[in-house]
Amino acid sequence: MAPSKVQFVARPGGRLSGTLRVPGDKSISHRSIMLGSLAEGVTRVSGFLEGADSLATLRAFCDMGVQIDGPKEGRVTIHGVGMWGLKAPAGPIDLGNSGTSMRLMSGLMAGQRMDLTLIGDESLSGRPMKRVTDPLAGMGADIRTAPGGTAPLHVCPVDGLRGVSYDMPVASAQVKSCLLLAGMYAQGETCVTEPAPTRDHTERMLQGFGYEVRREGSRACLNGGGKLLACDIDVPADISSAAFFLVAASIAEGSDLLLEHVGMNPTRDGVVNILRLMGADIEVLNSREVGGEPVADLRVRAAPLRGIRIPQEQVPLAIDEFPVLFVAAACAQGETVLTGAEELRVKESDRIQVMADGLAALGVDARATADGIVIQGGSIGGGLVNSHGDHRIAMAFTMAALRAEGDIVIDDCANVDTSFPRFVQLAAGVGVRVESRDV
Ligand code: S3P
Repeated sequence: MAPSKVQFVARPGGRLSGTLRVPGDKSISHRSIMLGSLAEGVTRVSGFLEGADSLATLRAFCDMGVQIDGPKEGRVTIHGVGMWGLKAPAGPIDLGNSGTSMRLMSGLMAGQRMDLTLIGDESLSGRPMKRVTDPLAGMGADIRTAPGGTAPLHVCPVDGLRGVSYDMPVASAQVKSCLLLAGMYAQGETCVTEPAPTRDHTERMLQGFGYEVRREGSRACLNGGGKLLACDIDVPADISSAAFFLVAASIAEGSDLLLEHVGMNPTRDGVVNILRLMGADIEVLNSREVGGEPVADLRVRAAPLRGIRIPQEQVPLAIDEFPVLFVAAACAQGETVLTGAEELRVKESDRIQVMADGLAALGVDARATADGIVIQGGSIGGGLVNSHGDHRIAMAFTMAALRAEGDIVIDDCANVDTSFPRFVQLAAGVGVRVESRDV
């Protein structure tokens, strides 16, 4: 018998109301395990994302001998082993669907004097890894990829790493983080310059663990040979998960929803800026700082949206939110144009093509371009779309049903669990008419 697949059925109409706290931030959850494991002392994490991606990172460090208790209701206790305390794992480390785990760990493991192999699922095994292995090689690391520059990654032990000064050709927080983490094990100074601001959770968290990071404009630098001191981490709700509800409540007439404790790091808030430019009614309430990260509650009410040309500088700040922003564009009046977003083609799926195909299947006029998309707002029909195993595509099309004329059936949704466990229950609880079934 063929293994069953998860399908979502989203019924047309509905409006959102009430209060919701979406699960913890995925980027911060990964980093809490990595730095907590290498710290001296006990790190206590709350609000940890219990999704498959961050659990893959957690398991990887358990496999390398770190005692990690939990997660239990988002609480994780990490008994740090210090910078050199990891043990070689018994076999390959399986990181599933998680690009962040693989790219950040390739940097962390590059200087560990340990032989190990990082593997992933079909999607992860097709994603570009040269962007990290090439600059790591420049630091003296020896990491072998499969012929196409993809996983499996075989990390071979080397005598030591040397610091580099690296100008990133793409705006990638994963590449920046990978090199800074490797830099902790390198001789001298490591500096990374980014062509546009990208999420800075690594720099913030390193500082929280007492590791000095110097930031001068677009450059982040640290010296090798330091150590990490355990601390407590309160993970905010993931703005990338909140994004589905920001769009949902904006497009569904009569909606009024409060999203609590949302991470509002200025390197992540592009979705709020873009939706506001489109005419969305989003109020930022109770802004505060929690453990070095800005947090706020967001009240969102339905509002008519208009098509826009998405400002270039917002692209890296909203890089994970485009699938659902395309749904907002399909509901807006007029044309929305996105350019400069070729990175979307190498995410968990080719998000430009997969979204253009899905929108077209629902009767929306959406034209993929090399580095973006052009969408004409109008009506959305019902139909069958394929998420290609991409969590954010599945959740984006779920929200499209709020304005659709018929059911939207979405194939291949199991990976929603990588970033948003209990998505269907939480969405249904605030008024989204969605069910999950095994087919
Ligand atoms: C992430 C960085 C981004 C983002 C990913 C998480 C991180 O990737 O798309 O979901 O946690 O550093 P890139 O660095 O490839 O842009």
